[in-house]
Amino acid sequence: MTSAETAFQITVQPSGRAFEAQAGETILSAAIRGGVGMPYGCKDGACGSCKCKKLSGSVVHGDHQQKALSTEEEEAGFVLTCCAQPLTDVVLESRQVTDESAYPIKKLPVRVAALTRASHDVMQVRLQLPAADTFRYHAGQYIEFILRDGARRAYSMANAPHTQEGAPGVELHIRHMPGGRFTDHVFNAMKEKEILRVEGPFGSFFLREDSDKPMVFLASGTGFAPIKALIEHMQHKGITRSATLYWGGRRPADLYMDGWIRERLAALPNLRYVPVVSDALPEDGWAGRTGFVHQAVMEDIADLSGYQVYACGAPIVVDSARAAYSAERGLPPDEFYADAFTSEADKHGG
Ligand SMILES: Cc1cc2nc3c(=O)[nH]c(=O)nc-3n(C[C@H](O)[C@H](O)[C@H](O)COP(=O)(O)OP(=O)(O)OC[C@H]3O[C@@H](n4cnc5c(N)ncnc54)[C@H](O)[C@@H]3O)c2cc1C
Ligand code: FES
Repeated sequence: MTSAETAFQITVQPSGRAFEAQAGETILSAAIRGGVGMPYGCKDGACGSCKCKKLSGSVVHGDHQQKALSTEEEEAGFVLTCCAQPLTDVVLESRQVTDESAYPIKKLPVRVAALTRASHDVMQVRLQLPAADTFRYHAGQYIEFILRDGARRAYSMANAPHTQEGAPGVELHIRHMPGGRFTDHVFNAMKEKEILRVEGPFGSFFLREDSDKPMVFLASGTGFAPIKALIEHMQHKGITRSATLYWGGRRPADLYMDGWIRERLAALPNLRYVPVVSDALPEDGWAGRTGFVHQAVMEDIADLSGYQVYACGAPIVVDSARAAYSAERGLPPDEFYADAFTSEADKHGG
């Protein structure tokens, strides 16, 4: 135990990064406060992104879903850091944690600068940030809107950080979930100039630039948003690693920035693009790949052991990819980087 009676030392191997967690605090909130970039997604026991192996120490888990951490996994020593409170000093294993410190997390007022319909159910929202305050983030990270009663909704930034130079602002791609508290507002009532409060940056979904492995970018629906930021960032930094984007939607119109990607292909010779549609109708005239997007990757790549995978969007796609790529294609679990876009429906759906 550390000097303060109620604080415990949490160490993450193999990086050796360490931080203090107070008794009663989750390991993940302490890591975020301490600027240590642990992997996570929903922060609510629903997605499993924060799962890591406990090497020593003991924790108590709060409520979480079995699909995020099963009883067998818990017995085998795995923890969900977003729900686990330390009872002793704890040593965890997470190869995704690096020496690099996370960017400071800030609460900011933002103004809606532009609302553009990208498809029948996707709104491109541009937020203007305060000019006086530099907002730094990694391409791929997300911000949270803080609603009046303190509830939060997460959205990934679709523009790379360098695009802020001169015009501090972020671009979001927000899909309408009918009956959803925030997206009903975005689609039915939001106006330009509206002021909202956000906090960020959050998230462990960003490009690991210390690797030269070929990459698979897997996006479903608005899961394309953070991947767009990665592509912009790669172009800006002249990163020439090979990357193949698989973007899946139900109908062709769901691939709402198809043209944008095709323009990038000319500038990025190492980028490939495989659009995949699961429910095309005859009137769509779709002649491309069909089926589930995560399966298209498996059809094309027999061995993922030398790859990194960056996956974003619908939780079912992210979860299926995470399980199948490791079990059936040899992807090292630590090379799967993801943000599952969990919503209230996933958190309460059991
Ligand atoms: C890390 C992260 C990044 C994300 N990035 C994006 C992004 O870039 N773009 C994007 O479009 N989305 C993103 N999301 C999802 C986003 O945060 C919201 O969850 C989503 O937009 C829905 O918000 P909402 O308030 O409209 O709906 P919610 O109020 O959360 O409701 C969602 C759905 O569940 C139903 N529902 C509400 N409460 C319950 C309940 N108690 N039981 C059962 N069903 C219920 C609603 O009717 C609705 O259909 C991200 C999520 C995460 C975790
Ligand atoms: S289960 Fe912990 S971040 Fe989702």
